[in-house]
Amino acid sequence: MRIGKASNSSSSRSKLFFLCVSLLAAFLILDLLWASSSNWAPFPASNVLFFPDRILPLPKATKEEKSNKKGERILSATFADLAAPLLNWEKMATSPVPRLDGAAIQINDLLFVFAGYGTIDHVHSHVDIYNFTANSWGGTFDMPKEMAHSHLGMVTDGRYIYVVTGQYGPQCRGPTARNFVLDTKTKQWQDLPPLPVPRYAPATQLWRGRLHVMGGSKENRHTPGLEHWSIAVKDGKALETEWRTEIPIPRGGPHRACVVFDDRLYVLGGQEGDFMAKPGSPIFKCSRRNEVVYDDVYMLDDNMTWKVLPPMPKPDSHIEFAWAIVNRSLVIVGGTTDKHPNTKKMTLVGEIFQFQFDTLTWKVLGKLPYRVKTTLVGFWNGWLYFTSGQRDKGPDDPSPRKVIGEMWRTKLNLL
Ligand SMILES: *[C@@H]1O[C@H](CO)[C@@H](O)[C@H](O)[C@H]1NC(C)=O
Ligand SMILES: *[C@@H]1O[C@H](CO)[C@@H](O)[C@H](O)[C@H]1NC(C)=O
Ligand SMILES: *[C@@H]1O[C@H](CO)[C@@H](O)[C@H](O)[C@H]1NC(C)=O
Repeated sequence: MRIGKASNSSSSRSKLFFLCVSLLAAFLILDLLWASSSNWAPFPASNVLFFPDRILPLPKATKEEKSNKKGERILSATFADLAAPLLNWEKMATSPVPRLDGAAIQINDLLFVFAGYGTIDHVHSHVDIYNFTANSWGGTFDMPKEMAHSHLGMVTDGRYIYVVTGQYGPQCRGPTARNFVLDTKTKQWQDLPPLPVPRYAPATQLWRGRLHVMGGSKENRHTPGLEHWSIAVKDGKALETEWRTEIPIPRGGPHRACVVFDDRLYVLGGQEGDFMAKPGSPIFKCSRRNEVVYDDVYMLDDNMTWKVLPPMPKPDSHIEFAWAIVNRSLVIVGGTTDKHPNTKKMTLVGEIFQFQFDTLTWKVLGKLPYRVKTTLVGFWNGWLYFTSGQRDKGPDDPSPRKVIGEMWRTKLNLL
């Protein structure tokens, strides 16, 4: 490292080194203070700007970062966009409301879209339905009043949708332990036994006749939970009165994709840490905390032991409903990756990834029309669809801005 070399030479160089170290230390302390105390700015009435700009001045680029011949900064590989083919995107009908951190379940040609923030101070408590054959929205209906409004665990058996825990209320309130089942044929809701303790954005799947819930954050939204529970279910009913404790997941935390394919359960990506309520805030005002995003892929098989599989092309979080299974592949749309190395802003993902279950290999399939997180995905008749979530500020700024209701589709070709 250059700084190390400088310290070995003349005394003026030693002074320079000392100055550099002091500046670095000062910056690190400021950064720590910022990470632990910065708040979301007062919220505009409109649905934009969930994550305001950082107030502190940007640190100067290091010599290494400046050394690119074209004068561009060199950024860490995981932060940067990946090279990916361009795809043709078609804009479809916009959803009745914009939503962030909602949930979605596809059953045949219907995408059931649940809950989510409209703004940081307003959460939705209804379901919207998109029909992939008609390519239109319709058939809105209410959720139970006690059901969480964001960061839910959700899965279907093809008729019943199991809805697990999640955050109750706006801003950065904590999760509820309450669980529900929706019969999509009759639109009737039923209760399921509550989780032993509430979880925030846990990985959730149906596997071998049991509803599995694992990871997520604990009640404070930030501390990763490693616990894993299951309960036997059939036709929208719990067959047991209590959740069974299962093998803990190797890493906890929210916002992961969780899928079952060929009788194996997979948990992908996600993060440790999240925004928390500001201590003492009567409105549970969101305050940013440190987050670490992961590229991990874990698989649970017959032996009920976790296996580590090849990692994702980059760390990726906020993908819990941003996937579809197509032709023995998992397709994952957007997400968030490592924070920007200089500005420390959250960085969105603008690519589609493919994981082939047979070869356990990853591929970058193509580019999205923009980078987007917690988007809701469906696949129908050769078309990959995504709607909702939070998009970037623009092609040159991958940090989050507008909460969207837009629906887009592209013809997918996995060959
Ligand atoms: C979706 O829309 C098509 C065309 O209007 C209709 O034929 C079909 O029944 C709808 N799907 C469902 C499940 O209602
Ligand atoms: C389960 O464990 C046994 C013994 O450790 C091993 O022989 C077998 O291959 C494992 N099965 C799977 C599917 O990994
Ligand atoms: C899936 O496989 C079928 C049969 O090989 C093929 O016709 C289809 O195009 C594939 N779908 C995609 C999205 O690649």
